[in-house]
Amino acid sequence: MHRAVMPQIGTAQAWRDAARQFLAAGIRPEDILWGDATTAPDLFGTDAPLRPNRQVTVPRSFVSMASSVVWHGDPERFARLYAFLWRLKDAPHLMTDRGDADLSLLRRMEKNVHRCQHKMKAFVRFREIGSADAPRRSFAAWFEPTYHTVEPTADFFVRRFSDMDWRILTPDVCAIFENGKLSFREGQEKPHLPEDASEQLWITYFQNIFNPARLMVKAMQSEMPKKYWKNMPEAAFIPQMIADAPARARAMAEAAPSLPPARMAQVQAQLAAHHSAWDGPQDALPAAIAACTRCPLHCTATQAVVGEGPMDADLMIVGEQPGDQEDLSGRPFVGPAGQMFDQIAAQAGLDRTQAYVTNAVKHFKFTPRGKRRIHQQPNRSEIDHCRWWLDAEIAQVQPKLILGMGATAAEGLTGRRDAILARRGTVEATPNGTPVLLTLHPSYLLRLPDPAAKADATAQFRDDLETALRMLA
Ligand code: URA
Repeated sequence: MHRAVMPQIGTAQAWRDAARQFLAAGIRPEDILWGDATTAPDLFGTDAPLRPNRQVTVPRSFVSMASSVVWHGDPERFARLYAFLWRLKDAPHLMTDRGDADLSLLRRMEKNVHRCQHKMKAFVRFREIGSADAPRRSFAAWFEPTYHTVEPTADFFVRRFSDMDWRILTPDVCAIFENGKLSFREGQEKPHLPEDASEQLWITYFQNIFNPARLMVKAMQSEMPKKYWKNMPEAAFIPQMIADAPARARAMAEAAPSLPPARMAQVQAQLAAHHSAWDGPQDALPAAIAACTRCPLHCTATQAVVGEGPMDADLMIVGEQPGDQEDLSGRPFVGPAGQMFDQIAAQAGLDRTQAYVTNAVKHFKFTPRGKRRIHQQPNRSEIDHCRWWLDAEIAQVQPKLILGMGATAAEGLTGRRDAILARRGTVEATPNGTPVLLTLHPSYLLRLPDPAAKADATAQFRDDLETALRMLA
């Protein structure tokens, strides 16, 4: 039986050295008694010499996990780590095996240590102890960590407070930083630390940043567990602050300003301008649409694509947005979707030149991929911004019926986003009461891979065009 007693200071290095030697000598986990400074010496233990007989390589991920787990409080931690390391030498994939019970226990311990380090960084409270004429200011803090985290966390304080002397005293291990040198010594009893002049300032600050209207007691206590409170000067005020919170939140609500801020008038004017209808002369509409900058789509598109067709048409046909070819040519429905539409419209007996044809969104939205521009569906905000133009076109043409093709057109015309497949073939209305016959978008027909489904959807689309013609007859 081999014995390995880990020191309280320098534990990580000591465990690493011992584990490497045991592993190199092929010592099985059950032949080692691991202990720390508190372990009673084992009567049957021998310290037989080790004969290294193999090369040891340990995955980096294990080294990193072990360098945290050694600081845990579980007395079995050294043995658990070595037992896992022993398994790992024949099965390196174990480090990624999420179902392995030993690994998940070690991962939990690693997490506990990290959490304890985080709490230490957040809750150590220093008090000034040096004399006023000393060349460096000097501070001390009393802290009670859950695990052995003083040593692995000390570097954080060195980086933060390198220009002063300080010591973090704990019942476990103490960290001392003097004249730029960090050292550790055994833990001690709680010392009496003098009152600190800056403590009142800190308490006042803490009380002032506390927002009673945002109080969530459970979240607060999980972030700042009660066991740390006794060494935190501000914590003495927490129970009262929690008790006062409802009344303070009510008072805050009652004292809220009743006058709108000065910029409100400007904001309201902007909103009104966005929501009012376009009221320019009829022949100025195409130029106004062409110059549109209401949403960012104008930045990347070649041009706005304005509707075309007779301004007194009975039927208005509304699509989604220009595609790649429409963006380049400046005319609606001239690309593949337009050709598909023309083909089925001819079968249904619908003459497109008799209708006013436009889109819910006037600029092409796409993402570049290599040399290609890939179509992107417009979002709610883009549809909302462009409704201003769609409404202006409807107001000028005053169609008897609108044929809305696809979900974007349906949303632009009716304001409703619900799935188009369930609504196709039905008649809804614009907010002004113009009837809207909803149908599929021709590009949907183009994309359907299954010939039978495509034939079905095409027939439905043709039916809808025929319905439109019947409604206008
Ligand atoms: N798709 C549309 O919705 N409109 C066009 O103009 C072209 C393709």
